Amino acid sequence: MSRFLTLGIESSCDDTSVAVIEDGYKIRSNIISSQIDLHQKFGGVVPELAARSHLEAIGPIYQLALKEAGVTIDDIQLIAATYGPGLVGSLLIGLSFAKGLALSTQIPFIGVNHIEGHIYANVLGHPEIKPPLICLTVSGGHTDLLWMGKWGSYQILGQTTDDAAGEAFDKIARVLGLGYPGGPYIDKIAKGAQDDLEFVKKGNLTNTYNFSFSGLKTAVINYIQHQKQLGLELNVPRIAASFQRNVVIQLTAKLFHAIEKYDVNTVLLSGGVAANSLLRESCRNQTTRLGKQLFFPELQLCTDNAAMIAAAGYYHYLHAGPGDLDVTAEPNLKL
Ligand SMILES: Nc1ncnc2c1ncn2[C@@H]1O[C@H](COP(=O)(O)OP(=O)(O)OP(=O)(O)O)[C@@H](O)[C@H]1O
Ligand SMILES: [Mg+2]
Repeated sequence: MSRFLTLGIESSCDDTSVAVIEDGYKIRSNIISSQIDLHQKFGGVVPELAARSHLEAIGPIYQLALKEAGVTIDDIQLIAATYGPGLVGSLLIGLSFAKGLALSTQIPFIGVNHIEGHIYANVLGHPEIKPPLICLTVSGGHTDLLWMGKWGSYQILGQTTDDAAGEAFDKIARVLGLGYPGGPYIDKIAKGAQDDLEFVKKGNLTNTYNFSFSGLKTAVINYIQHQKQLGLELNVPRIAASFQRNVVIQLTAKLFHAIEKYDVNTVLLSGGVAANSLLRESCRNQTTRLGKQLFFPELQLCTDNAAMIAAAGYYHYLHAGPGDLDVTAEPNLKL
């Protein structure tokens, strides 16, 4: 049986990644070169450094992805690359590389929305997923609650009114003196810790699917300052666990309200924060109780990777054919 091979390219932020996937869901290779060490000392991504690093990495990673998949470029039937949202200098490296490759080989090309990529990360290994569904996308730059009636059609029910969920994790990790990016550090240190601190009044942003994390963030920072002023030692695990619990309660309250209202049977989590163990566990418990099907990507597929970009590109190609080679980097691209 003939297989359809898609080459995916991702460079929207601080990970350079190239992947080869088969028939839209089977990963043949997914090489990710992280720039974490480069940006760690700055506590966040430095755009200029990120772009230079993508430029150095993209060629060798492309070769490695083909090699690990056991194919040559002649076996590839579609090239899919992220064209937004993200850092413009970073986006341009992967996108230009992909377009150049497509032009020189005549292989069809398609531009992919990075956030759609995060959603399609769920399809990798689970081609049985079918809309209608509700998806919660929680990443470093986005907090989107979506209803999908069919693939490719997104109704945004709610978004963050200030910080994204991942951004809040990163900021609190920084004030607690944990590493960057902060989500995984908070997740780890919170395991088994007391989580009883209430930082904000309940009932914030009720009657809307929108989210807000800046009030919580400020409350945690004020609590830390207050403890310091009193000369008390900080109980970092307790603060981290309580912060995480507060975030997860807000996310799941709105998610499960939407699941009930839209009466869907399928629920997806996506984006880097979908790696959070408390969020996964809480969603798992509640969906099991309601008899709904929950999907979340494998840990490595929650954060940026090219396999998810290839998956999203493949499904768009199947439904609407190749994209336009004139597509340009769009830092603020929306769903
Ligand atoms: N276990 C975890 N718990 C909570 N947050 C996590 C965990 N693992 C990763 N994150 C968070 O996920 C974010 C990175 O996710 P992702 O790579 O999807 O974001 P991004 O690509 O920077 O943003 P976007 O996709 O919106 O452009 C970081 O903020 C990181 O702290
Ligand atoms: Mg991302």
